[in-house]
Amino acid sequence: MDNHLKIFSGSSNLALAKEICDHVDVNPGKLAIHRFSNENITVQIEENVRGDDVYIVQTSCPPVNDNLVELLIIIDALKYASAGRITAVLPYYPYVRSDKKDKPRISITARLVADLLETAGADRILTMTLHAPQIVGFSRIPVDQLLATPLIADYFSRRDLTDYIVVAPDVGSAKKAEVYARRLDLPMAIIDKRRYADDEKAVAKYMFGDVEGKNALLFDDEILSGGTMLQAIHIIREHGARRVFAGCAHAIFSGQAIPRIIESPIEEFVTTNTIPHAPERLGSKFTILSVAKMFGDAIKAIHQGDSVSKLFND
Ligand code: R5P
Repeated sequence: MDNHLKIFSGSSNLALAKEICDHVDVNPGKLAIHRFSNENITVQIEENVRGDDVYIVQTSCPPVNDNLVELLIIIDALKYASAGRITAVLPYYPYVRSDKKDKPRISITARLVADLLETAGADRILTMTLHAPQIVGFSRIPVDQLLATPLIADYFSRRDLTDYIVVAPDVGSAKKAEVYARRLDLPMAIIDKRRYADDEKAVAKYMFGDVEGKNALLFDDEILSGGTMLQAIHIIREHGARRVFAGCAHAIFSGQAIPRIIESPIEEFVTTNTIPHAPERLGSKFTILSVAKMFGDAIKAIHQGDSVSKLFND
């Protein structure tokens, strides 16, 4: 790659950023991030970026707010260092679920994040599998959204899928699950999940579709507590489903999600490295697919002015 393409990384997912750099065939950009005892962050870009096409990789994982502020400060430092164009590469977009005014006087923080990125100096956003498509429209700078669906679907497509069915664990995930069903040429069922309070507890009530005697592939965009997935498993089991496999783009895994999945009937859980996890914490039930090539190919396409959607969109 030419030496005007530079990729920097925040602190959130250094391993993924390094893999993306390897794929694009550039060395990681040099920067120093320092945290003072008063929790202020300072960033210094340690190489010339004047006029360069610069990408900064920062995912939204704990500490979410620190990582967001760190990203904004890095963008600001790059802007004042005269970078030519700055792309915020967000494998998992911050506050992605805060995307709608579904209650009175509620914050829509995914939109605020778009405003903050633009104000800090970002010219573009490159991200993956947003919770809702309207988030692209929150931003006044261009957004390229990659999808984890082809990666995960291709993984499952390598096995014999006779008697399998794709299951959407809630109505909201039905459209995304339908893409899996189409790619894998499988039938589909949908769970009707309800939230009765503004908390993370969901209750699966009904099911559309016939899972009797079938092996289920459950797909969601993200797993937080694991509650949605486990409720869905409970109901499909009641309706006669046999083996259960699951997948999601973003494995946030808060609280007891990992032990809950380990103890659940899920035989294999397939996800990506948009959120970093130590393999020893996860164990053998989990398969992590790398999104580095997808992001690397997208960065190369953006740099060269080629189509990104042609590469990845379904
Ligand atoms: C919600 O609409 C999302 O698509 C996921 O179903 C949700 O984020 C999963 O959260 P949890 O694992 O806590 O049920």
